[in-house]
Amino acid sequence: MRLADCHNIEDFRALARARLPFPVFDYIDGAADDEITRARNTAAFAEVDLVPDVLAGVEHIDTSCTILGRRSPLPLMLSPTAVQRAFHWQGETAVARAAAKFGLWFGISSLATRSIEEIAALTSGPKLFQLYVHKDKGLNDHMIARCKAAGFDALALTVDTIVSGKRERCLRSGFTTPPRFTTRALWSYATRPRWTLDYLLRERFRLPNLETHVAEGTRKAVSIAEYFNTMLDVSMDWETAARIRENWGGTFVLKGVMSAGDARRAVEIGADAIMISNHGGRQLDGSRAPFDQLPEIVDAVGGKIEIICDGGIRRGTHVLKALCSGASAASGGRLYLYALAAAGEAGVARALAILKDEIERGMRLMGVKHIAELTPDRLRRR
Ligand SMILES: Cc1cc2nc3c(=O)[nH]c(=O)nc-3n(C[C@H](O)[C@H](O)[C@H](O)COP(=O)(O)O)c2cc1C
Repeated sequence: MRLADCHNIEDFRALARARLPFPVFDYIDGAADDEITRARNTAAFAEVDLVPDVLAGVEHIDTSCTILGRRSPLPLMLSPTAVQRAFHWQGETAVARAAAKFGLWFGISSLATRSIEEIAALTSGPKLFQLYVHKDKGLNDHMIARCKAAGFDALALTVDTIVSGKRERCLRSGFTTPPRFTTRALWSYATRPRWTLDYLLRERFRLPNLETHVAEGTRKAVSIAEYFNTMLDVSMDWETAARIRENWGGTFVLKGVMSAGDARRAVEIGADAIMISNHGGRQLDGSRAPFDQLPEIVDAVGGKIEIICDGGIRRGTHVLKALCSGASAASGGRLYLYALAAAGEAGVARALAILKDEIERGMRLMGVKHIAELTPDRLRRR
């Protein structure tokens, strides 16, 4: 299988599986416990059907919408994800460049393998920094100050990772940051020489936004779960979120809100947007899918705050269904991560081109010329 054979996100997943050692693939692909929520995130979209209108004169359509106060050419964002250098040697650079090519918002994680400054220098396009609140308050302040100085356009505070989810594939594979060659997985590394040589011979794996304050993850190999459970602040609460919003002072997103009550509180503390998200099913297994939670959250806070539906998106029609349910935009991680792992920047660019094409085709087939026409009456629950 080659990049040219990838025609949907599932194809990129298959190519990534073939090219990555299994501990790395399983870190991307895996989720918490029985992975029920991960599966549900995508399955939820299949339980509603689109109702198209015909003869709508759809030669010219406009796929643009407002995301985090800016015009975006598509109603789609690339969610922040950790340690991308482990997936492909180009890491976040590839994702930033591909996102810039399409004019899309993308996020880098606190656990990014490129620095805030490197990413800012790469693109003047819209970019978000995802903050994990660490016990080391100096580190939190330092990351926020760096984002301000580098001109990041938004800060997303992740609120669903108070402790790590139980990611059993990672427990079995022994995946760490930086990745280590375990005897269990030696065969897999040996049979993926392209990944292994790129990992060994190209620039060193680092977590440059954290290494000023912590050795874990860069100089000391730890599992992601160990990192979260030892480094992050379990006492984080609404006051912490309000303080961080104030300290940041710019466009502020709460990532990982799932209940209508929390969505209301997000409005109260002055957040500009919420990402309805369960972290791609990697945290609380058995929790609801973001798409399923949309209607009640839209009822509670629609029109008062931007609502971004994050998780499970694999198709252009999933984006359209999220918008019909009242989301301002859709966002996803694996939809570009499989492609990054499969083929670096060219892979991500191809995945985005496919999703753009699917969104445009879907709108035309729906008889929709503008995003605002994607309304709840165009959906039916089975
Ligand atoms: C490999 C991987 C790493 C992730 N790392 C982070 C992270 O560092 N910070 C964060 O807030 N979310 C992280 N996420 C969650 C994503 O931002 C996003 O919520 C999730 O991928 C959405 O689900 P989807 O993959 O089905 O699109 C990660 C997800 C994956 C798959």
